[in-house]
Amino acid sequence: MSTKDTFFKYITEGNTTKGDYIPIGAAMLEGETITNAHVKIPLKTLNRHGLIAGATGTGKTKSLQVLAENLSDKGIPVLLMDIKGDLSGLAQPSPGHPKITERHEKIGLPFETKGFPVEILTLSEQDGVRLRATVSEFGPVLLSRILDLSETQSGVVAVIFQYCDDNKLPLLDLKDFKKILQYATNEGKNEFDDAYGRISTSSTGAILRKVIELEQQGADLFFGETSFDVQDLLRINDEGRGYINIIRLTDIQDRPKLF
Ligand SMILES: Nc1ncnc2c1ncn2[C@@H]1O[C@H](COP(=O)(O)OP(=O)(O)OP(=O)(O)O)[C@@H](O)[C@H]1O
Ligand SMILES: [Mg+2]
Repeated sequence: MSTKDTFFKYITEGNTTKGDYIPIGAAMLEGETITNAHVKIPLKTLNRHGLIAGATGTGKTKSLQVLAENLSDKGIPVLLMDIKGDLSGLAQPSPGHPKITERHEKIGLPFETKGFPVEILTLSEQDGVRLRATVSEFGPVLLSRILDLSETQSGVVAVIFQYCDDNKLPLLDLKDFKKILQYATNEGKNEFDDAYGRISTSSTGAILRKVIELEQQGADLFFGETSFDVQDLLRINDEGRGYINIIRLTDIQDRPKLF
């Protein structure tokens, strides 16, 4: 057997799968693409973590697109965080190009041009569906974490949430949260002291300053109604394709707290 035949056998035998799979391309031997030496990812392994690594221009983004498109095609919804702004092209069918056709013939996978059901989501004022959540839904643990609070301060946040729960007060946005925080050491001081123990003004002051910092990074756009429903990220269109949900984060990187 020639080296090429041995290689072909090695790749195809190494890529047999029991269930359904996603073909990600064909293997290369000494710089040459070997037609039909398909590399396959079994669908059932795609709930694991993975890493796509490579130098710039080696096809990382393309690989990600191929994965997203194939998952969608199999009726599996996808959620992507678009940090560089190069993922939303999935929505438009490719106009096609002789080079693409040639490349696909070489790989041995047909090239079909299709657009996929894409939903663009945003955390800021960019175009797209605004992704929001209420402070209540976000919860004390996550809120304390993004505020980078100390243990004592996190305890105070937990008490504030408890108070709102006990009194059926909804915490919609950061304004609501700040109001209760101030109430706890002012008018509501005695009420809080009796029911939950003393809360120091230095703690509430520190939390307040961190909330303001978060607001300055545009978080007041994120917190509030109407809040998003996780089920919205699991939609499948009429043709049985899973939605590819893309959260645009291109303008969020310089706002680390919100990010
Ligand atoms: N399997 C492939 N066969 C042929 N061309 C490809 C393949 N994968 C990617 N390309 C092309 O190579 C170029 C670079 O691909 P891509 O943008 O995916 O690279 P990248 O690794 O994400 O780069 P960067 O690090 O700059 O983001 C693109 O023009 C893409 O169309
Ligand atoms: Mg890239």
